[in-house]
Amino acid sequence: MIQCNRFKKEVMKMNNNPIQWYPGHMQKAKVQIQDSLKMVDLVIELKDARIPKSSTNPLLEGIIGQKPRLIILNKKDMADDARSEEWLKYYEKANTKSLAIDSAHQNIQGLIIKEIKEMLKAKLEKAKARGIRKKVLRVMVVGIPNVGKSTFINAIVKKRVAKSENRPGVTKSLQWIKIHEDVELLDTPGVLWPKFESRDVAVKLALIGSINDKVVDKKELVFYALRHLSAHYPDKLKSRYDVSANDLSDEELVDLIAKNMNFIKKSGLSDEEKTYDFILADIRNNRLSNVTWEFLDEQDA
Ligand code: G4P
Repeated sequence: MIQCNRFKKEVMKMNNNPIQWYPGHMQKAKVQIQDSLKMVDLVIELKDARIPKSSTNPLLEGIIGQKPRLIILNKKDMADDARSEEWLKYYEKANTKSLAIDSAHQNIQGLIIKEIKEMLKAKLEKAKARGIRKKVLRVMVVGIPNVGKSTFINAIVKKRVAKSENRPGVTKSLQWIKIHEDVELLDTPGVLWPKFESRDVAVKLALIGSINDKVVDKKELVFYALRHLSAHYPDKLKSRYDVSANDLSDEELVDLIAKNMNFIKKSGLSDEEKTYDFILADIRNNRLSNVTWEFLDEQDA
């Protein structure tokens, strides 16, 4: 509990020091996505299951408006299942359909097509009542860079389509790919930058490797990660690094991990840089396995 409170205080401290990132472009991206949206019946919004809120551009909700939206918590294989369940329940409560999936390894085509048809059932029936026998449903994918849009589209289309350009907007001429007899998918997703409303958001995005390490200092990232792990996943700290964080400062904890992993410089001192890199690589390669970095109960969501 003490660890939890300390962690929350640190987050509040960070929130007072937001980072400005990707200025401009947003308006252009917004207009481009809005143009594409006019042509679709449903939007599939990808979020990273490890940081569902921070991997969302808060403008997106306004851009999508009343259009039906399916939220995908992608990379669920890297997140904590219990936490993903909480997020799914939260979206469900807000009347937004959501699924947690692993686009990289799971066969998702049938599941997604079924969901799209279910969500647009009323639209299909309305078209039928009007005498339109062959109504084609059109969908598009949106999300911030690296959230897995290309992987998701490839998995649905069941072939390799071009890698999405990580530039805001919809970056290629529009092409529709048939994914079912009456469902078509826009082959290029809409890209919105994440919005760094607070330093906390930037730290979480950097932690999962979604943005460049230059944006947030490595040491700050690692301290943040260790505090989160000691507050919520102490067993993982113990099994991977053989440490318990109780009553240790951030520096002492890193020092202990360096010693336990035998990252010692010729001088006999702990190699902190090597330790930071090692911990960050562990996080990004899921070697700590299934950690969620953003919990619903810490959010004002
Ligand atoms: P983007 O179009 O939104 O920018 O993202 P992209 O599909 O390129 O995915 C970014 C990285 O995330 C890729 O890894 C991809 O393999 C991985 N990824 C996407 N979805 C999932 C998922 O559900 N689970 C897991 N574990 N990984 C996922 P990469 O290392 O950048 O490239 P690659 O060499 O693996 O393709």
